[in-house]
Amino acid sequence: MEFTTILLEKKATHYLLTLNRPDKLNALNATVLQELDAALTIVEQDSANTCCLVLTGSGPKSFAAGADIAQLHEQNGSTGKSFAEFGQKVFSRIENFSIPVIAAVNGFALGGGCELAMSAHIRYASENAKFAQPEVSLGIIPGYGGTQRLPKLVGVAKAIELTISGVMISANEALSLGLVNAVCPMEELMMKVESFIDIVSSKGQLAVRASLDAIRASTNPSTDGMDVEATIFGSLCATEDFKEGTKAFLEKRSPEFTSR
Ligand code: COA
Repeated sequence: MEFTTILLEKKATHYLLTLNRPDKLNALNATVLQELDAALTIVEQDSANTCCLVLTGSGPKSFAAGADIAQLHEQNGSTGKSFAEFGQKVFSRIENFSIPVIAAVNGFALGGGCELAMSAHIRYASENAKFAQPEVSLGIIPGYGGTQRLPKLVGVAKAIELTISGVMISANEALSLGLVNAVCPMEELMMKVESFIDIVSSKGQLAVRASLDAIRASTNPSTDGMDVEATIFGSLCATEDFKEGTKAFLEKRSPEFTSR
């Protein structure tokens, strides 16, 4: 598939997906969401050969400045719900992705941009990054999962404060709230992401992916997370990776994992 609004690059250990509408601060229009969805399928189909997916925005100014307000303006009482549902569907795919997804937030992460970052498993931000859910300024609320994910990350009271005011916060405030994992100078952002991926890619990949499944179970109230954890733990004990990892430790050498 030929993409027009995103770039998808395969690197040695990971995929890099760049939102690519810098003249519109990488605002998320319907084409971006469709291409994002298609790119997720490509990465998923190649997930045996890759460790992580990185999401970022093109240009020095913005990760994504939200849903495309021109397209948003066209919505009405009969189209608005499905407009939100499509974004929710794509972002839920990211949250439930089989390999770790890292958002490298390189500037504005507003509205749908903040929601996209929150659907990733880990967020690293550049010092100039700014976060907000400014939808109330437009007479709406976050529609791509923001009302559900923000409270889990920052707590209910802070999520309400941010959502009903729409105020923009700095990368360092986002760090202090737990909205991002780390903040670094813009020029170091990709290096920081890549050195983290280097660590993850040296581990047993079956265990890395199983960690996502087990931790996700902790946020599902209808699931017995402890049972999920014990079941996954048990199934990993049957893998060659587990035998190799423990044997390598006892033999004082680095493990050679095969994902079997
Ligand atoms: N949807 C559509 N276009 C957007 C956009 C969005 N969410 N955010 C920015 N753009 C466009 C601008 O319209 C402008 O396009 P133009 O050059 O054709 O006029 C271009 O991106 C650059 O934005 P501009 O506003 O000129 O940059 P700025 O540095 O002065 O301000 C922001 C940056 C992010 C503060 C400002 O663009 C903004 O408030 N954007 C909307 C954020 C928002 O409410 N997002 C939530 C949507 S639900």
